Amino acid sequence: MKSPLRLLALCAVPAAFLASPDSEPDLTVLFTGDIRGYLSPCGCSKPQIGGLLRMASVIRGLKSAPNTLFVDLGNWTQATGRQDELKADAIAETFASLKPDYLNVGPLDLQLSEGQLASLAEATKGALDSSNAILPGVLANREGRDVAGKVWIQGLVPDGAARATVTPPATVLSPRSDRAHIVLFAGPKDAAFRLARSLGPGSLLIYSSQGDPTRTPDIVGGATLVSLGDKGRYVGKATRTNGKWEIAFLELGPERPDDHEATTAYRSYLNRVGEERLLAAMPRLQKGTLFVGSAVCGGCHVKEYNVWLKTAHAKALTTLEKTGNDKDPECVGCHVVGLTYREGFMDKSKTPDLAHVGCESCHGAGGKHVRNVSERASVHADATSCASCHVPEHSPGFDFQKYWEKIKH
Ligand code: HEC
Ligand code: HEC
Ligand code: HEC
Ligand code: HEC
Repeated sequence: MKSPLRLLALCAVPAAFLASPDSEPDLTVLFTGDIRGYLSPCGCSKPQIGGLLRMASVIRGLKSAPNTLFVDLGNWTQATGRQDELKADAIAETFASLKPDYLNVGPLDLQLSEGQLASLAEATKGALDSSNAILPGVLANREGRDVAGKVWIQGLVPDGAARATVTPPATVLSPRSDRAHIVLFAGPKDAAFRLARSLGPGSLLIYSSQGDPTRTPDIVGGATLVSLGDKGRYVGKATRTNGKWEIAFLELGPERPDDHEATTAYRSYLNRVGEERLLAAMPRLQKGTLFVGSAVCGGCHVKEYNVWLKTAHAKALTTLEKTGNDKDPECVGCHVVGLTYREGFMDKSKTPDLAHVGCESCHGAGGKHVRNVSERASVHADATSCASCHVPEHSPGFDFQKYWEKIKH
């Protein structure tokens, strides 16, 4: 399907006909960026916002309106290993189904291998591009992208990005007086402000940031500057009326439906994480003291064991099985015993007694104590035992007294 803008251009409608009434927006830009690997909110606490599934449904719903573009700023993942490559594939598949007008390459994306970048460019049918990161044979490296003779999009990485030869962004900026100039700059705020001085009035510059969106856009020399924050929690919506940009950030809360294509891409990503056995490939420390499993502790500490069985901890891996993340290295560590140790949890068939959050998740490996029960120092637990898992990001409401009350034994 052609974008509505291009269809209009093909029909060669007279320019006067295209002009909207004064109060009507004549251009809408939907934008995403800085997903940084957050394909899905983990679900550890509710409500959580964000995720590719909701993002795609919002864009798909709005993109069919006339004169509406979809662009992404880049920085899809942290680019630190195989799991990020699999994530990038899922993002590419999802974005391709949304018919993007420009997918900018960010400095994090440039840390992926050239082969991976080439395959992402292919999967997104050439939408992945950059005006100043030069990767011959991988990116089209057009000066910019013209949409229907009305919009001129340029994608930029900041100076010093890895791997590609990067032309200084200011030198490739080329405003065109007859087009709406949209600049996707995957660099920080201070550099964005410097760039904006070379932009014409009425341009829109989207820059990279972490944290929350810029609630009030900045105006620099007539250009409008905005940023979305990171972790894929919002879709940005910039609407132009009478040459002026108005910005909204659409929060991806649980009321947003999951997109069908994005769900398929995400499921296939999780399957690949399992099939490639990324969990087994994780680096492990050697502890030297064996984990024995909750059932062994329960043999002597019957009362404690029976209390534990009724807590959420005793089904923590089942929770991940339900969401499909039970083989996902980014989740399993906090939902089982001792994943970071050679003697810790491997998988459910090899180490069934170390599945779920067990006695030794808090008390530490019990081998020494089981050999000599009067040795108790190695199984000491207290309020500090919760800290490694009940971190603000995954357990924002954590309070030891309140939480201990629910699991005390
Ligand atoms: C840093 C540790 C940590 C990581 C990593 C982690 N979790 Fe959790 N998860 C927790 C804690 C702690 C809770 C309990 C939060 C609370 O109730 O305050 C929890 C709770 C949950 C729950 C809610 C269970 C319920 O029924 O209420 C789900 C679902 C969940 N996690 C899924 C995931 C998924 C999926 C991932 C990976 C994407 C993940 N977790 C990664 C620590 C973690
Ligand atoms: C063979 C039986 C046996 C097994 C198995 C066993 N314990 Fe114990 N545990 C004891 C006994 C007996 C004591 C009390 C020792 C004492 O008072 O000197 C004790 C004491 C403790 C204490 C200290 C209680 C206190 O009052 O200070 C903790 C904590 C503890 N065990 C945890 C565990 C954990 C965790 C496991 C599994 C890794 C486990 N135990 C396995 C028999 C056992
Ligand atoms: C190894 C990681 C880990 C450690 C250590 C840990 N927890 Fe948890 N906790 C979890 C996970 C994961 C869940 C969610 C389990 C589920 O529902 O699947 C959870 C859930 C809970 C819940 C249930 C929340 C609810 O509202 O139902 C309570 C209460 C809790 N933890 C208390 C504690 C306390 C207190 C400590 C320290 C003494 C502690 N936890 C240590 C991982 C951990
Ligand atoms: C979520 C963390 C957590 C889990 C899981 C857990 N414990 Fe504990 N346990 C604690 C903490 C914290 C204390 C100390 C509480 C305090 O200081 O009052 C404790 C205390 C104890 C004590 C000493 C009780 C006393 O009277 O001094 C024993 C024995 C014990 N746990 C055994 C177990 C056994 C057996 C299991 C598994 C079936 C288990 N615990 C699971 C955190 C945990």
